[in-house]
Amino acid sequence: MSRIAYVNGRYLLFREAKVHVEDRGYQFADAVYEVCEVRGGRLIDERRHLERLKRSLTEIRIAMPVTPRALGVVLREVVARNRIGYGFVYLQIGRGVARRDPAFPAPEVAPSLVVTARSLSRTKNEALAEKGIGVVSVPDNRWGRVDIKTVGLLPNVLARQAAIDQGARDAWFVDKDGFVTEAASSNAWIVTANGNLVTRQADHAILRGITRMVAFEVIKARGVSVEERDFALEEAYAAREAFVTSATQIVLPVVSIDGHVIGDGKPGPVARMLRLEFHRYVGAE
Ligand code: PDD
Repeated sequence: MSRIAYVNGRYLLFREAKVHVEDRGYQFADAVYEVCEVRGGRLIDERRHLERLKRSLTEIRIAMPVTPRALGVVLREVVARNRIGYGFVYLQIGRGVARRDPAFPAPEVAPSLVVTARSLSRTKNEALAEKGIGVVSVPDNRWGRVDIKTVGLLPNVLARQAAIDQGARDAWFVDKDGFVTEAASSNAWIVTANGNLVTRQADHAILRGITRMVAFEVIKARGVSVEERDFALEEAYAAREAFVTSATQIVLPVVSIDGHVIGDGKPGPVARMLRLEFHRYVGAE
């Protein structure tokens, strides 16, 4: 079966799905996006992803091109047409197509909407989570509003590649004060040497991950406490456990940071519990 993408009102064959050369997302990264997990053909946490999308759009002053209800229909249609059982759906909304000029285009320029979907290998994801990943730290050189989910991801691209070049899988950004902000495309967590579960507070320096939010609820339901605060790289080196959360990986254990082995070098019990409980929780929601 051919893959299908939705582009500005039309379902197109994936290989024929294109945007204009003067699309502002392409020229200025003047666009926002969302990535939503698909499991059993169902979108996980759709409501929260659409709420965050609305917030991102408001922050950069782009109008929602369709109603949230219509957007939900498109998302599900793209998932169905691509027969995604396990994978993710990607949506991007940009400020439209206009002659290249940083200032906003005329109000009649319609925002653009693109939706794609892709299957993931559950076996591969599970194998990765069983083993855990290594990460390296990189200076956080991103702009001051990474709480807005824009497609301006060049620092993330370079960070991820720097990690791969060093034989690691992912990068953790560290701010100018030595505190971990988040990973290149996920939120960072540790279980400290004293056993406290810690993740950075949701300020403008991290994306308020939906998986992070749900993880809080799972943790609360289990009666475990969590601290939202800054944590230094050194605290992470000495942690019992570390992991990252995102819509595509859910909970992925981190077993080394800059070559420092975390805990016993194997995925820890908190990460395992969260990974296991996560879908039980969202399924029951
Ligand atoms: N990334 N931080 C960053 C920088 C991210 O890009 C993401 C998500 C997250 C986690 O957010 P959530 O739990 O809502 O997925 C945190 C997506 C998956 C991506 O860019 O592919």
